[in-house]
Amino acid sequence: MKAIVYYSYGSPDVLHLKEIEKPVPKDDEVLIKVRAASVNPLEWHFMRGKPYFMRLMGIGLLKPKNNILGVDMAGQVESVGRNVKQLQPGDEVFGGSNSGGGYADYACVSEDRLALKPANITFEEAAAIPIAGLTALQGLRDKGKIQPGQKVLINGAGGGVGTFAVQIAKSFGVEVTGVCSTGKLEMVSSLGTDRVIDYTQEDFTENGHRYDLILDNVGNRSIFDLKRALNQKGICVIIGFSPAIMFQTLFLGPLISMTGSKKIGLMSAKITGKDLVVLKELFEAGKVKSIIDRRYKLSEVPEAIRYLEEGHAKGKVVIILEHESKT
Ligand SMILES: NC(=O)c1ccc[n+]([C@@H]2O[C@H](COP(=O)([O-])OP(=O)(O)OC[C@H]3O[C@@H](n4cnc5c(N)ncnc54)[C@H](OP(=O)(O)O)[C@@H]3O)[C@@H](O)[C@H]2O)c1
Repeated sequence: MKAIVYYSYGSPDVLHLKEIEKPVPKDDEVLIKVRAASVNPLEWHFMRGKPYFMRLMGIGLLKPKNNILGVDMAGQVESVGRNVKQLQPGDEVFGGSNSGGGYADYACVSEDRLALKPANITFEEAAAIPIAGLTALQGLRDKGKIQPGQKVLINGAGGGVGTFAVQIAKSFGVEVTGVCSTGKLEMVSSLGTDRVIDYTQEDFTENGHRYDLILDNVGNRSIFDLKRALNQKGICVIIGFSPAIMFQTLFLGPLISMTGSKKIGLMSAKITGKDLVVLKELFEAGKVKSIIDRRYKLSEVPEAIRYLEEGHAKGKVVIILEHESKT
């Protein structure tokens, strides 16, 4: 099968299209014929091995442990391991694996990280969902404790996580303000925001407005700025962060929570079949859709990652797998 492989950390130049052996599913895994995959910032972090602390967390100290990128994917079940209970060959699924594998014709994924694809969307729309959609859902619902009627601000509303977060927040019956650059104002408004802030013109931490919940997908503000924009008992969930913001939040976040009623914390999303089903239902109810900025072929993965790494994608970037008819 064809796959994009890499054996050392570095720029997109370390990625190469190669013919390799088709993987064999373990007992609890499903072999998927990948029809589409997507690109997340996670892919360029894995590719570069940066920030360096990720290498200590198991991705490989000097070189990558897993050689195929691509956490998110959607496709058809080709075969299943002997302990797989819910899925069978032919099922159309979406989900992903933390160890990647999606930038290939076939990939093995644990059954509990997959769900049936929403019936009303394409493979590419489904492949756009897992990491970004789950991050938005878990950030708002689990860390953010979102409640109907609240005022919610999404910083970085025009990116992968942000476009899902705006729509998922609206499904909870809240008032949503989205923060993005000038060129994305129209797109972010079209997702149902009640207000849009152009960050090149207005600073949401300085304009006097206060929010019950802030989802920060950018990580470009100090936790003191974020605290200022929260209502009493407000919660800020930091999703995108630099090592500096991470250390600031880890050390000062608990202090802020202990000395007042506001809470600021980091989150780390998990790929679970259960939450993929929650997203499937939101899609099937027409409450959420995937916003796709660009589509690339498997051989163009290096360009796709280069584009996402520039940091201004309008929604999601997806990879389309073209299978020859004999496969
Ligand atoms: N903690 C977790 O579990 C988790 C999971 C997924 C992702 N993440 C992280 O979350 C972040 C966002 O991920 P993503 O997939 O949404 O990335 P993305 O698609 O690249 O989107 C990033 C967005 O940030 C916006 N942005 C850049 N500068 C901004 C500013 N000054 N103010 C407001 N918005 C700004 C960009 O929009 P403009 O063009 O409008 O500037 C872009 O749309 C990344 O850092 C990623 O690593 C964390």
